[in-house]
Amino acid sequence: MVGGLGDQIRRAASIELPDLPAARELLVLGMGGSGISGDYLAHLASLHGSRVSGHKSYGLPGWVGSARPTVLALSYSGNTEETLSGVEAAAEMKLPLIAITTGGQLGDLAATQGWPVVGVPGGLQPRAALGHLLGAALRVAGVTGLLPSPVADLHEAAGMVDSLVAEGGAGWALAGDLAGDLARRGVIVYGSTGLTAPVAQRWKTQINENAKRPAWWSVFPELDHNEIVGWSADKSVNDRVGVVVLTDRDDRDEVGRRIRITREVTGGDVRWIGEVNAQGESPLARMMSLTAIGDMVSVALAEGAGVDPVPVEPIEDLKKRLREER
Ligand code: F6R
Repeated sequence: MVGGLGDQIRRAASIELPDLPAARELLVLGMGGSGISGDYLAHLASLHGSRVSGHKSYGLPGWVGSARPTVLALSYSGNTEETLSGVEAAAEMKLPLIAITTGGQLGDLAATQGWPVVGVPGGLQPRAALGHLLGAALRVAGVTGLLPSPVADLHEAAGMVDSLVAEGGAGWALAGDLAGDLARRGVIVYGSTGLTAPVAQRWKTQINENAKRPAWWSVFPELDHNEIVGWSADKSVNDRVGVVVLTDRDDRDEVGRRIRITREVTGGDVRWIGEVNAQGESPLARMMSLTAIGDMVSVALAEGAGVDPVPVEPIEDLKKRLREER
């Protein structure tokens, strides 16, 4: 589930792209393991003064009529109902549209409408194709003018991931330690406003889907205004939950101070399991270093519990029932 991530990112650096129109602003449609690439891209684009928004629901947000963004439809299977609903609405509004997919209905629609498609290799779980999907999304953002070329950063990120996921390497040791302390606990992952926020979300969803256990994510500074109170009454819940904090060297000083004081204030109630620091130079490499550790933690949790990380039966069942009732 983790081993191919570095190669995927490296491959994305050299894929051929179709002709793409320049974009002023991007709206990414995508759910789950596909949609998370939109969250990563939104943060990276904002560092360069570009606006990328994500939409994880049916239809389109109300502001698109006046802003008329380029729409990037991201669906690994190409068959995700919410994403297709947004794509249909975008087509009706004649918004420029680019698809990243393995095919499915999205691929068929793009072929009939003449929308550019960036194809990604099939046969994976969508969440295990993050390197393909995010890499393709970054390349699209580079070519459409929302980011400088991401190629050098993709190579750095791929090397960083490879070194962390190497067998017997430091990444697995850290992931194993964290997973040992998190065993039989619900996991809460804290990030902050910055590159750790979307990665905290990825940790949460990977722990849900790979380890098949409850997990949540929140961000500093907002969590200091509500969540910390939620730890103060029912200690029986707190014993069954552990918190991991993700940090980055570009976190604001105020956030670092908040993390330290939050730990002191809640230390009697909250089981703080650990802090994981981003490694690398570029923001992308730093995001992917944290992502790789989170993916490894989720796999180590699955292994520790004797659970197969790959299948996601509840998601498949739910999609099947939705299709049957359509
Ligand atoms: C499964 C996974 C899911 C899917 C989601 C959307 O591995 O990660 O979260 O990504 O159900 O499906 P796609 O990605 O095919 O649009």
